[in-house]
Amino acid sequence: MTSSRMSLPAWQALKQQQGALAGTHLRRLLEEDPARFQRFSLGWGGILLDYSKQLVTGETMRLLAALARGCEIEAWVRRMFSAERINTTENRAALHVALRASAPVAFEGTDVTREAAAVLAEMRHFVNAVRAGRTRGATGRAITDVVNIGIGGSDLGPRLACEALKPYAKALPRLHFVSNVDGAAISSVLDEVPPATTLFVIASKTFTTAETLANARTAKAWLEKKLRGKAAAARHLAAVTAEPARAVEFGVPRERVFRVWDWVGGRYSLWSAVGLPVALAVGMERFDELRAGARAMDQHFARTPLERNLPVVLGLLGIWNVNFLGAATRAVLPYDERLRRLPAYLQQLEMESCGKRVTRDGATVDYATAPVTWGSAGTDGQHAYFQLLHQGSATVPADFIACCRPHHRLRRHHDALLASFFAQSEALARGMTAEEAAADMRAQGLRDEEIRRLLPHRVFDGNRPTTSILLDELNPRTLGALIALYEHKVFVESVIWNVNAFDQWGVELGKSLAGRILPELEADAPVSGHDASTSGLIHHFKTRRKRR
Ligand code: F6P
Repeated sequence: MTSSRMSLPAWQALKQQQGALAGTHLRRLLEEDPARFQRFSLGWGGILLDYSKQLVTGETMRLLAALARGCEIEAWVRRMFSAERINTTENRAALHVALRASAPVAFEGTDVTREAAAVLAEMRHFVNAVRAGRTRGATGRAITDVVNIGIGGSDLGPRLACEALKPYAKALPRLHFVSNVDGAAISSVLDEVPPATTLFVIASKTFTTAETLANARTAKAWLEKKLRGKAAAARHLAAVTAEPARAVEFGVPRERVFRVWDWVGGRYSLWSAVGLPVALAVGMERFDELRAGARAMDQHFARTPLERNLPVVLGLLGIWNVNFLGAATRAVLPYDERLRRLPAYLQQLEMESCGKRVTRDGATVDYATAPVTWGSAGTDGQHAYFQLLHQGSATVPADFIACCRPHHRLRRHHDALLASFFAQSEALARGMTAEEAAADMRAQGLRDEEIRRLLPHRVFDGNRPTTSILLDELNPRTLGALIALYEHKVFVESVIWNVNAFDQWGVELGKSLAGRILPELEADAPVSGHDASTSGLIHHFKTRRKRR
């Protein structure tokens, strides 16, 4: 079976567009059209999405929208919002939107928003009690520290939101996150937190994830030792899971187990009880605002024509850059320290959702799908990898994200940050020609011979596409909208690539091999049954480990 996306008329027309634009430079597009910013930017709900520095014309955008329609984007959006089991390989719906919906969402005869509201009510009760100091530990003292133990979708979203919303948090409780099975992660947190006033939230949708269970067992053993007994330790445990019985069996008190459902994907679950650490940090009202921001974006996504629809436009630009301009990676560059965890969050969201090589029907794709997503907070990246962005042999499209109003009062810092934000995307688009570079060096007093020698190194080709996203300010509402913007952008891309955005079979093989290797590391017998390289590595490790 082969995939049919490339045979769609809009795909073919876009191929021709790519050819027609081959000699076009962003500098020219920007110079020729003084209204380009107005034509290629969208404003909605305190978010500006400027794509005037993407290598597109009005015709490109028209064809991309036609491609989306050819892939039945509107029908797919309806399917997702109306609770169809669009995650066909797991026979599940993808109902993260129901977690923040204001109207009922019927799924198999039940209104899932009522179930979600019931858990939110339990959460509210618990969060208020912890924050007010009414929930006490085994020695009768109020909770001062919360440690979230989870990984992937049970870690990245809450971690991003806690970091981003720090200005809204009270001093207590302090939030900590442990995800990595590396003992260094849990031990450094255990060294820091007081056992008598620390609450551990074990977040695992499946409650089978090896890393999370290993960390949870270590935390529980530590509590039992420090607080002298299982009953005392249990007062310091809570869980978030779709498998409550497993959490109870582990030792979490039943009334502290908060439910999630299999109709929510892990990487889309921030809006459920997985957001418990966020609510503990900033309060339930702020958590409601986060959900409200996402809900507003859902409504925008479901109701706005494709051409003015932020997630659709962002998704279409992703498709254009990957499938027509050949980008293999893309950078996410938040010029805001509070959003420094956004690239890691988007890595899972984008790469776990669309890092697929077969279509929904199992046919091998004959076009590229998700690029590698990477990045870090500006301006740090400028002094590390921006050299490659400006002059490397690969073109890396980038999303630049910043806020107009910061939370701090250091105005000069914010202006300096934003000056870099504007300068970098301008430089990437315009570049610097040989004439400009030569004139620059002449002005610095360099001799002709020196100018000739240095010239190739001082030229910037430019023509490197970027999108700028400017939030009026970062608050729970705009953060919720921003995250939902990317969730839906990924869905748009998945529809066009014809891949299932909600499964992740690719993580299974490594997990099962690790499960087989672990007992081999613990046993004395020599390992067998692996390839020569793996056996050699395991043998080397076991030998060296003994020599300590
Ligand atoms: O291994 C990948 C994954 O399944 C992610 O999709 C998920 O977010 C993460 O592991 C954690 O899973 P759980 O919440 O079930 O522990």
